[in-house]
Amino acid sequence: MNKLNGKIAIVTGGNSGIGYASAKEFISQGATVVITGRNSEKVQVAAEELGVTGIVADVKSISAIEDLVEQVKNDFGKIDVLFVNAGVFQPAPIGQISEELFDNQISINFKGAVFTTEKFLPIFNDGGAIINLSSINAYTGMPNTAVYAATKAALNSYTRTAATELAPRNIRINSVNPGPIATPIFEKTGLEEEQLKGLGEAMQNRIPLKRYGQPEEIAKLVSFLASDDASFITGSEYNIDGGANINPLLG
Ligand SMILES: NC(=O)c1ccc[n+]([C@@H]2O[C@H](COP(=O)([O-])OP(=O)(O)OC[C@H]3O[C@@H](n4cnc5c(N)ncnc54)[C@H](OP(=O)(O)O)[C@@H]3O)[C@@H](O)[C@H]2O)c1
Repeated sequence: MNKLNGKIAIVTGGNSGIGYASAKEFISQGATVVITGRNSEKVQVAAEELGVTGIVADVKSISAIEDLVEQVKNDFGKIDVLFVNAGVFQPAPIGQISEELFDNQISINFKGAVFTTEKFLPIFNDGGAIINLSSINAYTGMPNTAVYAATKAALNSYTRTAATELAPRNIRINSVNPGPIATPIFEKTGLEEEQLKGLGEAMQNRIPLKRYGQPEEIAKLVSFLASDDASFITGSEYNIDGGANINPLLG
């Protein structure tokens, strides 16, 4: 199927995990894809594997986002799909939240996400689609995730308001809230292997489907929301979490 035929799609954080899998899915649906990331070597390797353009742009830097948009504009003209996916997960208990940890997560997961959309809007085709990668953490009280969860809750709030304002241009904007997905994000937390194993087991026990999701499973939903099949969907949020949000008391 070629649901994204002729569309130009940008995937931030496309060198790894959910972004990488979504770039692959977009390509299989006929889109022309540009991936971004912050590490030039990783971006280059992933871009070569996928056969797409890779551009280094740290979303913490507004001028880097502006340079990215300028390059996309010069090389591709206008865009149709923006997958705002780049993000970090830095768990820390309340009482031990440093200013650096706070600033880093806010400036990547929320400020970076907002300004990615902000700066791409002038080169967006009317009728396009924006997908913000959020998290079920926006709604859970999972220990050690207070700031991370707040960045995702803020992003979902932004999505709802933006949907109203972008509707006159028929640009749709939606959020995707995954549960735990098997990607390198957990290894980047700095937690010891044993801690990660314990965290993984505890989380899987609480998920009705008793497993982590795979990045490809998120990519399918993202690709649907990017396509014209989702033409009446905007300002919405989709949990994709093996049932974790049900929070069953038994099972
Ligand atoms: N995995 C999960 O369980 C899960 C659950 C819910 C939500 N999410 C969200 O899903 C999104 C993707 O995460 P993932 O699980 O696929 O993790 P991942 O494999 O670590 O991918 C994250 C991507 O974002 C990039 N990135 C991070 N900071 C950036 C910055 N300042 N500028 C540009 N790119 C940056 C990373 O680059 P580097 O390779 O250089 O780090 C990487 O390409 C994130 O927003 C995350 O919060 C993940």
